[in-house]
Amino acid sequence: MYSKEELLQGLSSRTVGKKLFVFDSIDSTNICAKTLAEAGIEDGAVVFAEHQTAGRGRNGRTWLSEPASNLLFSVVFRAPLPKEQTVFLTFYSAVAVTQAVESMIGKSVECKWPNDLLLSGKKFCGILLESSFQQAFPAYSVIGIGVNVNQKTFDDEVGKRVTSLSVELGEDLDRRELFQAIIAHLDRLSGDVRAGNFKGIMKTWNSRCAMFGKPVTVTSPHATFSGKAIGLSADGGLMIETQEGTSTVYAGDVSVLQ
Ligand code: BTN
Repeated sequence: MYSKEELLQGLSSRTVGKKLFVFDSIDSTNICAKTLAEAGIEDGAVVFAEHQTAGRGRNGRTWLSEPASNLLFSVVFRAPLPKEQTVFLTFYSAVAVTQAVESMIGKSVECKWPNDLLLSGKKFCGILLESSFQQAFPAYSVIGIGVNVNQKTFDDEVGKRVTSLSVELGEDLDRRELFQAIIAHLDRLSGDVRAGNFKGIMKTWNSRCAMFGKPVTVTSPHATFSGKAIGLSADGGLMIETQEGTSTVYAGDVSVLQ
């Protein structure tokens, strides 16, 4: 288990990670970060846990993680972004994790819309963005990041779709080094995000996305679309070419049919 001092040692953040809360066990770092945000905690505060008893995934799912094996943390982000741009916080976080992981393992990471990072076609990182709005602007956003780092085994069914960095590399990684690298990238990129400049972030994300040009099925809360993924819309949705024309979806699970 890491202490707060160990995780902060050598880290020189301007904003993200300047304030850090560390728990051995907690229900969910997202729940805790939201409570802190409601109470007025500063921009960039991070909640880190070695274990979650009620880890949350997208669409009401559970995020399971072996204690002290992976990275589980949430960032409180207060940016003066218009509501329609908050979706880009997911891409921003995905790019920060991608750059940190790639520099540590020397392999290219795949970004999968809307919020997954993959290695060898399997998910090793998920991002859960939760925002609280005051009219057209978010009062705060909480970016929850789960990275499977050193976990070796997964349930049979889950294991077909999910992996960890250590499974892919055949060796364990230093979780502290990876955490600090992700925080450093989040901190470095946060200036662009605050300025509403997502060009570089989206260029990196798009260059790591392998689903464009491929047939996909998207199961969204409202409908299921099948067609060819052709790219992202200006507002971060996934554009799909179907027999009826082009549709843009903003939420859902994507299966890529090779
Ligand atoms: C997903 O892929 O469904 C998103 C998973 C997000 C999991 C992380 S782990 C840290 C943070 N706290 C949570 O309860 N969830 C996020």
